[in-house]
Amino acid sequence: MPENLSQIDQAKANAARKAVEFVESGMKVGLGTGSTAAWMVRRLGERIRDEGLQIVGVPTSGRTAALAREVGIRVITLDEAKWLDLTIDGADEFDAEMNLIKGGGGALLQEKIVATASDKMIVIADAAKEVAHLGAFPLPVEVIPFGAEVTRGLVEELLGAFDVMGRRTTIRMSGDEPFRTDEGNLIIDLHLGRIGNPRQLALMLNQVPGVVENGLFVDICDRIVIGHADGRVEVR
Ligand code: 5RP
Repeated sequence: MPENLSQIDQAKANAARKAVEFVESGMKVGLGTGSTAAWMVRRLGERIRDEGLQIVGVPTSGRTAALAREVGIRVITLDEAKWLDLTIDGADEFDAEMNLIKGGGGALLQEKIVATASDKMIVIADAAKEVAHLGAFPLPVEVIPFGAEVTRGLVEELLGAFDVMGRRTTIRMSGDEPFRTDEGNLIIDLHLGRIGNPRQLALMLNQVPGVVENGLFVDICDRIVIGHADGRVEVR
C-alpha cells in the first residue's frame, strides 16, 4: 500500500483488504465501482499474483473493467457468469438496516444488476458513510435522455407525496455537458436531505416512465465492512 495515504483512503483500503478475505478460489465475483472498490480490485490482483487465487470478475463499469484487467483479474460478462458468488462494492451512504445510497460515481445501474445477481453483497466503506437516515447524499436516478426534463418533472411531482426534507433536483454535469453513464443515460440527483421511507421511494421512482433505475439499494446488501479513521475495521 502506498505511504502517505490520507486517513480516509487508509480506512477505505483497510475495509477493502478485510472484505477480500471473504473471496475464495473458484468464485465468480462482482467488482464494484469507485475509489473504495478500486482498493478491493487491486487487493484481489495482489492475491492472484501472490497466492494463486483463481477467480473471475464481473465489473460494474468500464473503469473497473480496465483496472481489473490491469491487475490480472480474468474479466467476463454477467451473462457469461450467469450468477455470482459475491459482489463487493462501495456506497455513498448506509444506514443501520444496511440500506444504501449508491451511484455517486454514476455506475448504479450495473452495480444494482450485478449485486442482485449475487448470492451475497458486501459493502466496503469508511465510517463517515454511516448515517441515521439516508438522504444527505443526493440520490442519483438514472434516466434515458429522451424527454429527460419531462421525466425530471414527473419525479419532482412524485416527491411531493413522500416524507423527504428537500425536493430540489439537478441534472448531473461533467464540465459543460450532461454526465453520461456507461449506457449513455443521464443522472438526475435528488437533494432530499432525509428519506423517510427508502423502500417505498425506491419502488415508486422506478414506476416513472423514463427512469431506468435509482440509487437506493434496499434488501440487497448482506454485510458491511467499515474502515475507521483509527485503523479499526468493523464487520457487520
Ligand atoms: C459508484 C458508487 C460508489 O460505490 C460510491 O459512489 C462510493 O464511491 P467511493 O468509494 O469513491 O466513495 O456507487 O456508482
